[in-house]
Amino acid sequence: MSGSRIVALGHYQPPKVLTNDDLAVLVDTDDEWIRSRVGIRTRHIAEGETLVDLATEAAQKALARSGRTAADVDLVVVATCTAIERSPNTAAAVAARLGVKAPAAYDINTVCSGFSYALATADHAIRAGAARTALVIGAERMSDTLDWTDRTTCVIFGDGAGAAVVEAQEDGAEPGIGPVVWGSEPEKSDAVVITGWDPVISQQGQSVFRWATTQIAPLARQACEKAGIDPSELKGFVPHQANLRIIDAIARKLGAPDAVVARDVVDSGNTSAASIPLAFSKLVERGELSPGDPVLLFGFGGGLAYAGQVVRCP
Ligand code: UT7
Repeated sequence: MSGSRIVALGHYQPPKVLTNDDLAVLVDTDDEWIRSRVGIRTRHIAEGETLVDLATEAAQKALARSGRTAADVDLVVVATCTAIERSPNTAAAVAARLGVKAPAAYDINTVCSGFSYALATADHAIRAGAARTALVIGAERMSDTLDWTDRTTCVIFGDGAGAAVVEAQEDGAEPGIGPVVWGSEPEKSDAVVITGWDPVISQQGQSVFRWATTQIAPLARQACEKAGIDPSELKGFVPHQANLRIIDAIARKLGAPDAVVARDVVDSGNTSAASIPLAFSKLVERGELSPGDPVLLFGFGGGLAYAGQVVRCP
């Protein structure tokens, strides 16, 4: 097997939108601070919908666009840090909703880098001959982890999901999913924490900011090198959507002048493991990327973990 490729993408966001002005009623903040420090204008917040609802909606859209059906899927991977149930895991619950029979189904939690980790494990499973068609989903209900009286976090995060249908390629075809660059700095893991039975997120914003703006660009360049591509050849760059200033700093250091850079954080906030597939799916839907375009995905955040790879646009 010569690897795998993304056949289609899909995404879903709950309809309720919170603006910066809405948040200014809850905490001591204002639109100017949020826009200038983080770049966010709005975020979507789930009300009645569960994490499984969000993930299933995104997966359904990706499947419909792929022309494949639930019967074709033999692997379901969900990247999330906001699953409440320990069993069944989110992947099994989504598979049951979609009517996928007898899939390998597991969740991955590497927080904001989760989607790129999940995509890599699906690609590895396909290369090993352990799967043929995978649903790889990033889904989060970050609102479950928020303290709505804490202005340092409640303005930043949002809910949503994105999904990719990933399929085996024929021998000899150029791989549609490039080698992953992944790792973590566990000695810094207390910089982002979501702990306890009723977990609340807190982070050392400035130290994560420094880490992301200094350490991630060289790793992102490594992912290009492993894929045998120069950053100047990239047509798209979809980093984790944490903060517009972080996205722009990494994009500048990466040196990819022809790449469309995803800036969905403006409309969606930080949706952790969902942010990359959500932003990528929107770029494709809007026609800002074309089939076959080389696109760099790069996730980073809690852990402090990171992962990224160059993929071909579906
Ligand atoms: O996705 C997971 C990985 N996480 C990240 O990548 C996050 C990386 N970090 C960041 O994006 C930024 O550090 C934040 C957006 C979290 C914070 O922005 P900052 O520019 O680093 O602000 P700061 O933490 O240095 O705070 C500056 C001031 C403080 O007030 P004082 O102490 O100077 O009086 C904060 O209390 O801004 C205050 N502040 C706010 N003011 C108005 C913090 N949050 C708010 C707020 N509205 N929402």
